[in-house]
Amino acid sequence: MWIENAWYVGCWSSEIKVKNITSRTILNLPMIFYRDLSGEVVAMEDRCCYRHAPLSKGKLEGDNIRCMYHGIKFDKFGKCTEIPGSDRIPKNMRVQTFPVIEKDGLVWIWVGDPKVANQKDIITCAFLDDVKWEYVEDYLYYQSDYRLIVDNLLDASHLNYVHENSIGSDPKTQVPTEVTRKDFGLHVEDFWKNDDPPPHHKKTGNFSGKVDRWNIYDWYIKGNLLILDSGSAPAGSEGHKGDRSDAIEFRHLSALTPETELTTHYYFAHTRNFSLQDKAMASNISKAVAEAFKEDKDIIEEQQKIINFDPDRKMLAKPSDGPLNWVRKKIKDYIVLEIQSLGNK
Ligand SMILES: [Fe+2]
Repeated sequence: MWIENAWYVGCWSSEIKVKNITSRTILNLPMIFYRDLSGEVVAMEDRCCYRHAPLSKGKLEGDNIRCMYHGIKFDKFGKCTEIPGSDRIPKNMRVQTFPVIEKDGLVWIWVGDPKVANQKDIITCAFLDDVKWEYVEDYLYYQSDYRLIVDNLLDASHLNYVHENSIGSDPKTQVPTEVTRKDFGLHVEDFWKNDDPPPHHKKTGNFSGKVDRWNIYDWYIKGNLLILDSGSAPAGSEGHKGDRSDAIEFRHLSALTPETELTTHYYFAHTRNFSLQDKAMASNISKAVAEAFKEDKDIIEEQQKIINFDPDRKMLAKPSDGPLNWVRKKIKDYIVLEIQSLGNK
């Protein structure tokens, strides 16, 4: 159960190499990505329309792809251009292609109704395409419903327990979170004044004393994206409000793309704009973030296993679940609208 009419991250741009076919299942649809001769990305169903053999086992011929079962060839628009041993090509002999846009180092894919796909709706992640920000392109494969990961990302109350030995902070220093509901989703702000820097901020920022630190993020319901502005500055500077001259700053993207009802692609990048000459730092930060995310993955995949025994059993709520429930409801509302609009056609 997911929103179909949305731009999802299909893969990192770097995954689609020239003269290569990349296959990935997105929203229950096996698909392939490749580059045409001008370098533009093509997204096509990974299923020959003849006997349903996977095109990912096929061969690229310039802009075209040939299925290596019966040799049927398709152009980059999915139209059949050759059937070996046959002069005639039936009109309906075509493979479905999908709107696809390469932007900010990511490949964005639209699986829903192509008539309502508008590339202006793709969320900008400019920091991923800016030499001032350095990062490692990261990925996790989750054996869980994407909504369990949404719950996790929107509920900081797990930090002190799941991450008690990594990024969890002392409950005494936890400040109330400011959450604003927006058209696109949620805007969340966390500030800690005169606080100890988290271990990885202390290490990378060389702070000797207390800091003012912040986590400000937007959650986009369509596409399941989290974009975070986070950092620390010497205590008293209130860096989150503007003066960031002595701050260390991070930008983060987390993007959840359902693979199937019970599996999820998780793309993420934790970028920084300082010590860019320190080449080892990007991979060290990536390792630390991936380790923390692995802690989430471990508990969420176990949670999914329990849910699978009785998937219809209702989860109970706690009083602070307002924003989280709101996001779940909005996802449901969008899905209902999509089903209704299909029914009206
Ligand atoms: Fe977590």
